[in-house]
Amino acid sequence: MAVIYHAESRTFHLYNDAFSYIFKIMDPGIPVHLYYGRKIHDRDAFDYLLETARRPMAVVLSEDRPDLSLEHLKLEYPVYGTGDMRNPALDVRHENGSRLLELLYENHQITAGKSVPADLPGVYTEKDEEAETLALVLRDAESSLQVILYYSVMEEMPVLIRSAQIVNAGQNEIRLETAMSLSLDLPEMEYDMITLTGAWARERHVRRSPLHEGVQSIGSLRGFSSNNFSPFFALAEKNTDENSGTAVGVSIIYSGSFLAEAAADTYHTVRIRIGIHPETFEWHLQPGDSFRTPEAVLVYSDAGLNGMSQAFHTLCRTRIARGIWRDRCRPVLVNNWEGTYFDFDEEKLLAIARCAKDLGMEMFVLDDGWFRCRSSDRTGLGDWIVDTDKFPRGIRHFTDAVHAMGLLCGIWIEPEMVSPGTDLFREHPEWIIHEEGRPMHAGRHQYVLDYSNPDVVDAVFEKISAVLAESRVDYVKWDMNRSMSDVYSMTLKHQGELMHRYILGVYALYSRLIEKFPGILFESCASGGARFDMGMLYYAPQCWTSDDTDAYERQKIQYGTSYVYPLSSMGSHVSAVPNHQLHRSISFKTRADTAYFGTFGYELDLTKLTEEEKAEVRRQICFMKEHRQLIQFGTFFRLRSPFEGNETAWMCVSPDRSEAVIAYYRQTQEVNAGYRRIRLQGLDPDGLYAIEGQTETYYGDALMHAGLLLSDASCGEEKSEEGDYISRLYVLKRIA
Ligand code: GLA
Repeated sequence: MAVIYHAESRTFHLYNDAFSYIFKIMDPGIPVHLYYGRKIHDRDAFDYLLETARRPMAVVLSEDRPDLSLEHLKLEYPVYGTGDMRNPALDVRHENGSRLLELLYENHQITAGKSVPADLPGVYTEKDEEAETLALVLRDAESSLQVILYYSVMEEMPVLIRSAQIVNAGQNEIRLETAMSLSLDLPEMEYDMITLTGAWARERHVRRSPLHEGVQSIGSLRGFSSNNFSPFFALAEKNTDENSGTAVGVSIIYSGSFLAEAAADTYHTVRIRIGIHPETFEWHLQPGDSFRTPEAVLVYSDAGLNGMSQAFHTLCRTRIARGIWRDRCRPVLVNNWEGTYFDFDEEKLLAIARCAKDLGMEMFVLDDGWFRCRSSDRTGLGDWIVDTDKFPRGIRHFTDAVHAMGLLCGIWIEPEMVSPGTDLFREHPEWIIHEEGRPMHAGRHQYVLDYSNPDVVDAVFEKISAVLAESRVDYVKWDMNRSMSDVYSMTLKHQGELMHRYILGVYALYSRLIEKFPGILFESCASGGARFDMGMLYYAPQCWTSDDTDAYERQKIQYGTSYVYPLSSMGSHVSAVPNHQLHRSISFKTRADTAYFGTFGYELDLTKLTEEEKAEVRRQICFMKEHRQLIQFGTFFRLRSPFEGNETAWMCVSPDRSEAVIAYYRQTQEVNAGYRRIRLQGLDPDGLYAIEGQTETYYGDALMHAGLLLSDASCGEEKSEEGDYISRLYVLKRIA
């Protein structure tokens, strides 16, 4: 791994075993991109990659170089207004109204390791050898605006992290209107763009479509990353599939409003941009001030989309997620939400907890409804005082009782919100995001607290700390259930800063709570998976993937989520049937076989299970405890997509390839269907494997190239016994 600077040609070559990223400083000091792709040999110069052409109508850099125009160069951090006609990485307003900038090379530093930007989530290293960082300093001479571009190459992963710091080193105020984390110009447009799109209860469905000339973008203006578009996209070559071909994955370590874009111009080059959404952003820099963008992550894979996802997984799991739970198997839990909704008291919950303990579970999670005035979702948020009708002897009495059973105990909070009818709502209207005199628009009957105001963050910190200290919980489900509207702060000077300051406030509160309660396992949540992003994973190593607990819907959601996020981060529970979101009934087996591929737990009233069902739950929990290390921390491969057909399949392989678990799901039963087989991935080709419950043994190469045969009664004349929504698991062990 290295960041090399070839002084004579003024060329930077950033590389590790997987990729090269090359750019040069071109006179009069413009960083011009030359190459990003599979690692290539280092050379003193790569000038042959600099494509220039005399193009009619171009605005030229200088009269003596009519072939050089910013519009036709590939740029590292472009600005608008001096010749480049594409969307800029940086857009500013000077005091005189001008938006012009001439960002030219000033100097650079190359350092070992990588630090996390202050007040933001980011990628960290544990040893300096894990990464090397280039800080490239550019300056606009006229205004003395400085831009520092950070590039960190990770040693062991095909990952490049980029971000920018904008420093006002001049005498006048400068307003940022756009400050992207990353801009990258690629020389061709023959890509498919893959995005993860959705809505409540159908998060992160995989969409793939060819790039065309023009801008293709996704984003969020909601104040959080959203379930509509995950802050991620991939550009995949046409022939790239799950297991082969080239793909570039682009993401951002951020939880607020974002823009992610691929813009193909009419010369068939593509500009990628990702960062804070400019539509809802501005930032005022007084002389001496600086602004740091969130970090963007670039993953290069020539091992297909699985290769890309595995790199994202390793990064998220080991160098974004933190804390004592990072490397620990996650406790099998029961959550009472779908089991009771708001209709519970201490006795009822303790009965469920006793049952959970008896069945082998490890944690009880008390969901929404434990606090004053919370008999429905219309009120109650903000005061965080226990409801003594439900818990007459206080919250501690309940959590002590759960702990006494030998279970861990968790609690639900939604600290960013306030409901009408609460003391907080009455006493501090100025702490609510809205403009006085204008109507306030509710979402889920509640309003958003103004986390851009440090007083609000302090007050919530005190309240939530008191709850956590009193209850001594081991786990917190931190929910957030509405989009931001009426975006106005009663205390902020510059309103355009509100959305970003809000999310900085959320990060600040997370940081303070983590510091005070380092043993707590945080699970983030936003009406299910509406804030499932890398920013959140820095604070909460797991996230409730979706409010949809139907097994088939979950196969799609978990399949899509796995494009970026590791299984250890995906909250996944077995719920009751008929399912509460779809009213569909899927067998207990398939529900568990789906929920295993995540953190695993139950979300139903366990006291209502039959003895037969209880026996099945016991078996399921034994299975998960035996295999969760492999599932949550092994290498995950998607094998068959629910978005492309009637079947879903995926597998996890242990790091030493001695064990694997394969899951196969079929939606509707077929009659007289074709023969079926599935080619496995990631096994030891020379290893001899046995499948649990079968006598036959197989070499890894046979399972990967000839495949695992799955033909069953639906392939032929026999009547199948299996029906719709079936699942099968295959546990492989290397025996020689
Ligand atoms: C959100 C969450 C659910 C549950 C409810 C409680 O919708 O996603 O899991 O916690 O809130 O109100």
